[in-house]
Amino acid sequence: MSHANTPTPRRFLPGAPLTGRIAVPGDKSISHRSLMFGALAVGRTTAKGLLEGEDVMATAGALRAMGATIVRSDDGTWTIDGVGVGGLLQPETALEMGNSGTSTRLLMGLVASHGITATFTGDASLSKRPMGRVIEPLSLMGADFTSSPGGRLPLTMRGAHPAVAIEYRLPVASAQVKSAVLLAGLNTPGVTRVIEPVATRDHTERMLTGFGAELTVEEVDGTRIIDIRGEAELKPQDIIVPGDPSSAAFFVVAALLVPGSDLVVANVGLNPTRAALFDVLRAMGGSIEELDRRDVGGEPVADLRVRHSDLSGIEVDPAVAPSMIDEFPVLFVAASLAKGRTVTTGLDELRVKESDRLTAMAEALTLAGAKIEEREDGLVIEGTGGEPLPGTSGDRVTTHLDHRIAMSMAVAGLASRDGVEIDDTSPIATSFPTFEALLAQASAA
Ligand code: S3P
Repeated sequence: MSHANTPTPRRFLPGAPLTGRIAVPGDKSISHRSLMFGALAVGRTTAKGLLEGEDVMATAGALRAMGATIVRSDDGTWTIDGVGVGGLLQPETALEMGNSGTSTRLLMGLVASHGITATFTGDASLSKRPMGRVIEPLSLMGADFTSSPGGRLPLTMRGAHPAVAIEYRLPVASAQVKSAVLLAGLNTPGVTRVIEPVATRDHTERMLTGFGAELTVEEVDGTRIIDIRGEAELKPQDIIVPGDPSSAAFFVVAALLVPGSDLVVANVGLNPTRAALFDVLRAMGGSIEELDRRDVGGEPVADLRVRHSDLSGIEVDPAVAPSMIDEFPVLFVAASLAKGRTVTTGLDELRVKESDRLTAMAEALTLAGAKIEEREDGLVIEGTGGEPLPGTSGDRVTTHLDHRIAMSMAVAGLASRDGVEIDDTSPIATSFPTFEALLAQASAA
């Protein structure tokens, strides 16, 4: 993808308060799934508010290569003409996944129960990420893999048709692994079962039910048992994608940290399996008010009014980690300016994201003058008590091709004395292409 070739450094300077009203783009998880489920339905699905970032476009490209017709109209509505479950075609070339783990793992699930062969390639960041976690259950279903050492990309998989229904207990809390097995189950005779000991984002379950799949979720003592009946027929849907809470997170933290801010972030998805960051920030003393709570496309949504606040350090309960797994980098920034100590634990999964986010954020924030102790499964942060971070002087923060490191450290720059220079802003386009424009808009008092 383009961002891998053209590093674009930038210094983020302290600036004006964030004010007015902004709306963040569509949810990344829901956008990927809208395209995938639309591609498997019989007939035409439409999606409004789809995130037009590089990751979602990688999904669109792969689905086109396997036979779906996906078109954007001038008014921004996307139409997806599906091939039906079981109807994916053999792609003629490798599927280029760029930076996107979600595209890779979910599409591997789709291919697993089709009689086709597909090769997946990705950028330097994605090629380091573990795919064994999906190779294992999909092999049990009958798919066959040739991967790079350590179960990594590039890899080639041969799907099984018919695949074998399995019962699979997730060994890691991962919505991507859960979704890969459920998507393979769509074209597998019988009932495929996923047992999820720790709840993760549930967009796959909600959306597949909306598309007419026979899917049930039973909860026993906090463990979720998800059954999907295969050889499903999916009915096309008209989808409205809510705004991405993971993108809103950067503006929410920026407004909390920059004195004088009073910002409305409109149209934020607040699915309980996604929204724990806002509760943690409120527990730290953050003023985050929900306005006009409503339902958009089956997901709870509100506008968030955020005012500059004095934050206090907190011990973050590891049980909430899956519901804010992508938000820890920016929480670490908030904690760096809080009064007292913030302790986070149970975050081993952060080491296998687009970068090792514990080490990357510890190094980046230390460079900007924060007091950070890196532990095996979390960071301990001694906050400044509201004083701006000193900022970076000679050195640049390394973003490791990780959009969330780039955006988190941009927020740190706004809350610094001398600014924070990062080595590359281009990865931001994977999930939030309008980030810098919205930042300029919100800061133009
Ligand atoms: C996602 C699941 C999460 C998250 C990623 C999107 C999804 O990954 O980090 O950004 O859409 O299912 P894991 O399943 O690896 O935790």
